[in-house]
This record gives sequence, structure tokens and C-alpha cells, in this order.
Amino acid sequence: MHAPDSYHSRTAFWASQSWHSGYLRRCYAWALARVLTEPTAPLHAPGAKVLLCGTGSARTTRTFLDTLAKHGLRPEVYVLDIAEEALERSRAVVREDERVSFLLADARQLPLPDASFALVETDFLLQLIPPGDRSAVVRDWARVLAPGGAVTTRDWIHEDVKPTMLERGTDALRLAMLRRALGVPVHALARTEVEALFAEAGLRMELHPLRLPGTVVRLPLLKAVLGWR
Ligand SMILES: C[S@@+](CC[C@H](N)C(=O)[O-])C[C@H]1O[C@@H](n2cnc3c(N)ncnc32)[C@H](O)[C@@H]1O
Repeated sequence: MHAPDSYHSRTAFWASQSWHSGYLRRCYAWALARVLTEPTAPLHAPGAKVLLCGTGSARTTRTFLDTLAKHGLRPEVYVLDIAEEALERSRAVVREDERVSFLLADARQLPLPDASFALVETDFLLQLIPPGDRSAVVRDWARVLAPGGAVTTRDWIHEDVKPTMLERGTDALRLAMLRRALGVPVHALARTEVEALFAEAGLRMELHPLRLPGTVVRLPLLKAVLGWR
């Protein structure tokens, strides 16, 4: 692993992408609406706590807080990242009347109590985690979720049910391009692995293809993942 600060600096890719907040806004709005369709979702409760796990850019934090507010939600939000630099930038975009705490911590070992969160929102984190450490991350999401709580994320997930040679080739090429754009190690993530990780952690999972905003065109590999405790 890189030293945390350099790690974040190198993922500054997203911070420089102006289209990114529109994309995130749509993704968050869709995921929150889906989570809130469950009438017993703990996110409906007035004292709900939400964890933004591996926030990355300040734009992610601001967009997430705005989308919660748009849905009439005013939960206590914990913004967590392994890089102080990511937290510092996010601190600057939080308003005084918002209930936000910042946590410098590793998603593989969350310093948070069991069953205390209604929602864990994370975005594109699993493929940054080396494969051997992923089960610790997903297990900890499940551990900190209250019963009925949900995890929402979007990840680049390879279909690994008998891919053709051509599919294997294009997947490898896309992954190489992604590593180049982000400038950090990105590890392949297969659908069967995500299913196993969520099942082992006791999370019921849904996988949804993501489309290019406003079109019916599916974004290659990118999927929205939802899990419920
Ligand atoms: C998950 S992506 C964030 C994607 C996000 N939507 C954005 O706008 O950047 C990158 C962030 O994850 C953080 N990160 C990487 N590994 C982590 C870990 N083990 N625990 C917590 N945060 C981590 C990095 O420091 C970085 O800020």
C-alpha cells in the first residue's frame, strides 16, 4: 500500500472531473430512493447515522450531503478516509448546521461500534483494496450496520462466468486504462467474488447495471451494488 497521503493525491483524478458531481448526484439519488422504499429501513429514523466510507474528493462529500438533504434526511454523517488530505478537503465543504464528524481510519478495521449505522455509502473502494483484504472490509460494513441497514456502492465488476477470449481481452484493457487514469493500483473485481463477500458477511445483495446518464446505454463493467443486513 502507498503512504495514505500520497495515495489520496494520486486518486485526485476524480476531483478534476467536472462531470463527476452530476454522475454522483444521480447515483446517490437512485440508491437512497431504493433504500428508502423499505418502510422499516433504519435510515427513516430521526437518530440515524450514516457512514461515508473512503470519501475521496470533497465533491463526493458535498454531493452526498446535498442528496441526503434533498431526500429530507438529516442524519449524523461520519466521513471516513485513510488519507488526512481527503478529510481536510471535505472539512472545507461542510456547513456549520450539518452534523458531520471526520474519521481518519482504515476501512479494513473500522473504529466504530457494532450495529450503529443505518447506511454505509462507499464508492469505488473495493477495487482499491487488495483482494486478500476485501473480506475484512465487507465484514466490517456488515458489523457496523444496524439490522435492516444498507450498504450502497458502485464498482467496476467483471463478469467471470465463462468470458470469451475477446471479453477477457477488453476487460484487461479497460482495467489497464483505469489504473493509468487513477494512478494507483486497481485490482480486478469479479461478480462471483462480490457475491461471495456479501454472502459471507451475511448481507443480502442486489447488483444493477449503470447507464450513461439520460440514455439507455450501459456503462461497461460499472455496476451499482446494494447490500442489506
Ligand atoms: C474510494 S475512492 C473514492 C471515490 C470517490 N467517489 C471520489 O470522488 O474520489 C478513493 C478514496 O478511498 C480512500 N481509501 C483507499 N483505501 C482506503 C482504506 N483502506 N480505508 C479508507 N479509505 C481508503 C483513498 O484515500 C481515497 O480518498
